[in-house]
Amino acid sequence: MEHIKSALKKAGITDSDALAPEPVAPAPHEFVAPADPISKIGNDDSAEKTQAKPLRQVEVDSKDLERKRIVSKSMDDPTHIAFNLLRTRVRQAMSENKWKSLAITSPTPGCGKTMVTLNLAFSLSRNPGLKTVVVDLDLRRPSIAPTLNIEPDRSIAQYLLGRAEEARDCFVQVDPNLVLGLNSGHTPASSELLQAPRMLDLFRFIDKELAPEVVLFDLPPMKSSDDALGFLPRVDTSLLVVASGTTTTEEVDECELQISELDKLLGIVLNKCEDTQTEDYYY
Ligand SMILES: Nc1ncnc2c1ncn2[C@@H]1O[C@H](COP(=O)(O)OP(=O)(O)OP(=O)(O)O)[C@@H](O)[C@H]1O
Ligand SMILES: [Mg+2]
Repeated sequence: MEHIKSALKKAGITDSDALAPEPVAPAPHEFVAPADPISKIGNDDSAEKTQAKPLRQVEVDSKDLERKRIVSKSMDDPTHIAFNLLRTRVRQAMSENKWKSLAITSPTPGCGKTMVTLNLAFSLSRNPGLKTVVVDLDLRRPSIAPTLNIEPDRSIAQYLLGRAEEARDCFVQVDPNLVLGLNSGHTPASSELLQAPRMLDLFRFIDKELAPEVVLFDLPPMKSSDDALGFLPRVDTSLLVVASGTTTTEEVDECELQISELDKLLGIVLNKCEDTQTEDYYY
């Protein structure tokens, strides 16, 4: 706990900010979509009408998640405070700008995108009324389902390929306010698939049927393929996760510039900072 306090202090954040009580539900706002193809889906009458079929409910094991560094579900590990801070800052920026969709990417693999996405999602969804949807769009190496030990009935990739009829079958509900869109296996030509017409149907389903306040997209790393760069215009904003000791300054600069040119950068999350005293990692 001390090293978190010292990191927060260095960042100019007081304990009282971090330990502030859970925020109450903000007033729901209208979705003001970005000027991109996916945003123009709202009034389409061909929206999937599958409301009658309930989402599959799945229970996740908080302790197992904690072992995988997903600490915002159980909240027993004090590192969850860092994600409450991130949640509050993300929430404030998104509310101010009337944004709804947030992508999470990184320069290279393994920086902690999925860990950040899931911690942020559990933290956000604890806000009363803040319905949160997470979509695993790392089609080459999906990891949300394996991290949570869930076998998806259908994957997002199958849906995008037209091999799954209903988008609903790719989603599970893990908490009253938290729904996850899952993937499995390795999908080649993922970049093209993320631009496929079925993506519009997926967005339409999320917007109309799941009606979330916030949608988080777990994207692939930017330097491994053009998947992330191609998809970023379709979201309101994004976080770049970088790993201390792994990500180079050049990689941060390059990715920051690319995202900024699209005007989609909300911020950079520095992960895996090493505590020199304990030789532990913290967030
Ligand atoms: N702060 C941290 N300290 C130590 N290990 C961490 C930290 N954050 C993440 N990890 C570990 O690093 C590995 C990669 O994390 P994660 O899967 O979240 O990264 P990713 O960016 O989503 O990777 P990929 O590019 O493969 O999708 C995991 O084993 C995770 O538990
Ligand atoms: Mg990942």
